[in-house]
Parts: sequence; structure tokens; C-alpha cells
Amino acid sequence: MTLLAESLLPLPLLRRGKVREVYEVDTRHLLLVASDRVSAFDVVLREPIPHKGAVLTQISAFWFERLSNVFPSHFITADVAQIVDRVPSLRAHVGQMAGRVMLVRRTEPVLFECVVRGYLTGSAWAEYKKSGTLAGEALQSGLRESDRLDPPVFSPATKADTGHDENVTFDRVAAGLGPTLAGRVRDASFALYQAGRDHAATRGIIIADTKFEFGTDLDGTVRLIDEVLTPDSSRFWPADRYQPGRAQPSFDKQPLRDYLSEFRGDGRWNGEAPPPSLPPEVVEATSLRYLEAYRRLTGRELGAAS
Ligand SMILES: Nc1ncnc2c1ncn2[C@@H]1O[C@H](COP(=O)(O)OP(=O)(O)OP(=O)(O)O)[C@@H](O)[C@H]1O
Ligand SMILES: [Mg+2]
Repeated sequence: MTLLAESLLPLPLLRRGKVREVYEVDTRHLLLVASDRVSAFDVVLREPIPHKGAVLTQISAFWFERLSNVFPSHFITADVAQIVDRVPSLRAHVGQMAGRVMLVRRTEPVLFECVVRGYLTGSAWAEYKKSGTLAGEALQSGLRESDRLDPPVFSPATKADTGHDENVTFDRVAAGLGPTLAGRVRDASFALYQAGRDHAATRGIIIADTKFEFGTDLDGTVRLIDEVLTPDSSRFWPADRYQPGRAQPSFDKQPLRDYLSEFRGDGRWNGEAPPPSLPPEVVEATSLRYLEAYRRLTGRELGAAS
């Protein structure tokens, strides 16, 4: 296994996100690389988390395959040998690619994040507490923090390049995309979330909410893009600890959050970069959580190579 804070591949780098790098393969294809970086409270930590990049990529690959009957996606392959066959210039770099790369169809991304919420938490709980609404629409009264929402709620946000995404109403999305495309991505989001939530529930994981992205490929087909139903794009909660009326522990990031909260609580960290450095036991505990999320969701062990 190669621990990787940052990939460096011989392709044009289009974007370096908090966690992933996006490379251009050609006009129709991109290579997504999940590093082992981890973020908490919106800050990227200095220490990479062993296996995290591979877990993220393999969880996405699992869902893209499993959900292909629900909606078309950008997924082509996450198999390094196949990718190297198609992009021979990568052959000398397989060490940093193992398990963490995905070849995808390039699209023109839809400029809204399609968030679906199945439980009332985070910014949705904050909005509900303040005004009794979610995504600008009235919601039944008397709900508690972390209560399950049936049916789930579509709660889109703008895709901000910098800073925080802004929650918007469905009408804003319809005005931006036209009612047909807006309706399609909303309906696809519901169907994908429902299928994901149902599967995860049988494996002891609550997917409380998630963010989908969509894009239109060169042939005009609308596809699910980016990562899907991963711990980085969703809130994963351990089902056996679920207790409405309070915030829930995170399946993957709780050791990290607990550690950082202590620093914030006693004034040793102001919540902004640079974050405190992580001791090895916190790195290890976080790594084990990611591996466990992969094992539970997929029923498989992560390949030895990653
Ligand atoms: N098939 C695709 N076609 C075009 N763009 C894509 C495709 N798949 C993913 N993307 C884009 O790649 C980018 C991934 O970078 P992003 O900044 O989200 O990385 P990240 O590591 O997830 O960071 P962050 O935590 O800040 O979201 C996103 O802007 C996403 O829209
Ligand atoms: Mg992202």
C-alpha cells in the first residue's frame, strides 16, 4: 500500500479538491484520483489516512455498478490494469494509483448539488429549528434532531467554487436548469438515495443524507458523476448507536472529530487551518473506520494492493 497525500500523474491537472485530483485524459474522459487526505470541520488535516483513497474509490465503484439500473453514470472502470491499457503514459505510476483511481466519462457538470436528506441533521436541522422549513418548504412540526424523514427531502445547493455552498429551493434549480432537467435530477436523486439507503440499512449503516452530482456528456446524455454515496459525500451513522433527539456519531470521522473537538474546546485550536497534527492512534482509528465502512457496505475486504 502507498500512502498518498497528493497524486502527481503525467496528465493535465484540472482540479485539486480537498481530497481528490481530477486529471484530463482526453476530450471525453477524466481520471479521478482519491488521495488519502481527510478533512474534518472543513479543514484538511496534514496526516494522510491509510487506505482512505482506495476505500472512497471502491465504495463509489461499488455503487456505480449496483445503481446502474437506476440511472446512467460516468463510471467506466476503477481497474488499474484496464486504465493503464487505455492510458499507457500512466504505466510508470501504478504505485500511486492502486485502488484509488477511476476512469470516467467527461461531462459538463450541472451547476447544482443534488442533496437528499433522509434524516434531519446538520444545516437542515439548523434551518428547521429556526423557521420550521427544509429547503424553503414547510415541514411537519415537532420533529427532533436526527429524526428520520419519510419521504426523504430534496434539498439542493449551489456548487460554489470557493467558500460554502448555498442551500436553494427547487424553484431556483428549475429556474437555472429548466423544469425538465431539474425534475430529472431530482427524481434520479430520490431513486438513487432510496436504493442506497435501503441497501446500507441492511448492513448496519444509516446514510443520513448525501450529495449527488450530475453532468451532461458530449452526446447529451445526463449522467450521475463525481463520487457516490461515500462517507465523504454523505453522512454515515452506525445504526446500532442511532438515537434521535441528539447529534449522531459519525461512522467514519468520529475519532477525528472527538480529537479535534478537544483542541477546540480548550482553546488550543481556532477551527481554521492549520489544524493540529494527529497522533498515530487517531490516524489508525480513522483508517480502521473507513475500512469497516467498505467491508460493511460491500461485504468484501479491500484488495491487498490497496
Ligand atoms: N464526469 C465528470 N465530468 C466533469 N466533472 C466531473 C466529473 N466527475 C466529477 N467531476 C468534478 O470533479 C470535481 C471534483 O473535485 P472536488 O473539488 O469536488 O474534489 P473533492 O476532493 O471532492 O473536494 P471537496 O471536498 O472540496 O468537494 C468536482 O467539481 C466535480 O463536479
Ligand atoms: Mg467534492
